[in-house]
Amino acid sequence: MIELGTLPSTVLEVARLNKRYPTGDLALRDVDLRIGRGEVVALIGPSGAGKSTLIRCVNRLVQPTSGSVRLDGTEVTDLGSASLRRARRRMGMIFQEYALIERLTVMENALSGRLGYVGFWRSWFRRFPTTDVAEAFTLLIRVGLSDMANKRADALSGGQRQRVGIVRALMQRPELLLVDEPTASLDPKTSRQIMRLILELCTERGLAAIINIHDVALARQFAQRIVGLRAGVIVFDGPPNSLDAAALTAIYGDEDWTATLGHGGKVAEDEHRSAVPEVERLAGLA
Ligand SMILES: Nc1ncnc2c1ncn2[C@@H]1O[C@H](COP(=O)(O)OP(=O)(O)OP(=O)(O)O)[C@@H](O)[C@H]1O
Ligand SMILES: [Mg+2]
Repeated sequence: MIELGTLPSTVLEVARLNKRYPTGDLALRDVDLRIGRGEVVALIGPSGAGKSTLIRCVNRLVQPTSGSVRLDGTEVTDLGSASLRRARRRMGMIFQEYALIERLTVMENALSGRLGYVGFWRSWFRRFPTTDVAEAFTLLIRVGLSDMANKRADALSGGQRQRVGIVRALMQRPELLLVDEPTASLDPKTSRQIMRLILELCTERGLAAIINIHDVALARQFAQRIVGLRAGVIVFDGPPNSLDAAALTAIYGDEDWTATLGHGGKVAEDEHRSAVPEVERLAGLA
């Protein structure tokens, strides 16, 4: 007999997760969440709802107070430092503030995603296996940055920096992406491009993702499933088309949601267009 929690299609299973910070703030209350392999979930909710805390408990940047986090069946909450490092390789993290190493090049930042794999001295001398360099270059082509491989990170725009952040996370060859407000510092068009790119890469690689995002319209447009958090409790979990005014009120409180829900959640034709042609053009393939 197969236990539900260990079904092969489950990549992450969070059960009865609680987090109380030393300040007394109860940021998560008995959170249960199951993410399937390849599933892209948008995590929405007001400021302070516990979105960042939840994804940080998953990779243990924050230590949960109680409860369970299982990645591919492995309990993460009580791993020792060596096994935690191994588990973290399987979880790529993408941040709002990009967290690039400013004085290093795009290529070097991309390769830093392999640091958990390459030995210390090798990485100290920045000697990465040629297969890693080739993989990084392929990914830079994929995200449209191939002609910037040698540019320093501090010379990039916000959108370009986030693409490097995405490449670095993918260089870990993760099974799960943990993404905290990837578009918060970006203009609306760049935000859409970045969300579309993340979604396409997840689809291409069968990668699951939890994406914390404040922009409800973007969440509805790009995620397959939306989870709404309010004061540390999951108050909504469903497909984008079931996120109606009542659900938004449950998550954020009373408001007139007409403008947010817009044209019934329908997505303009060009939003579904793939970024592939642009990538092919940059790679000189088209
Ligand atoms: N390091 C910390 N120490 C104490 N309390 C914290 C800490 N980090 C977060 N909190 C508290 O935990 C709660 C959840 O915070 P969290 O940052 O997870 O929310 P969030 O949903 O990510 O908010 P935002 O949308 O503003 O990023 C808040 O009450 C916050 O004040
Ligand atoms: Mg946050």
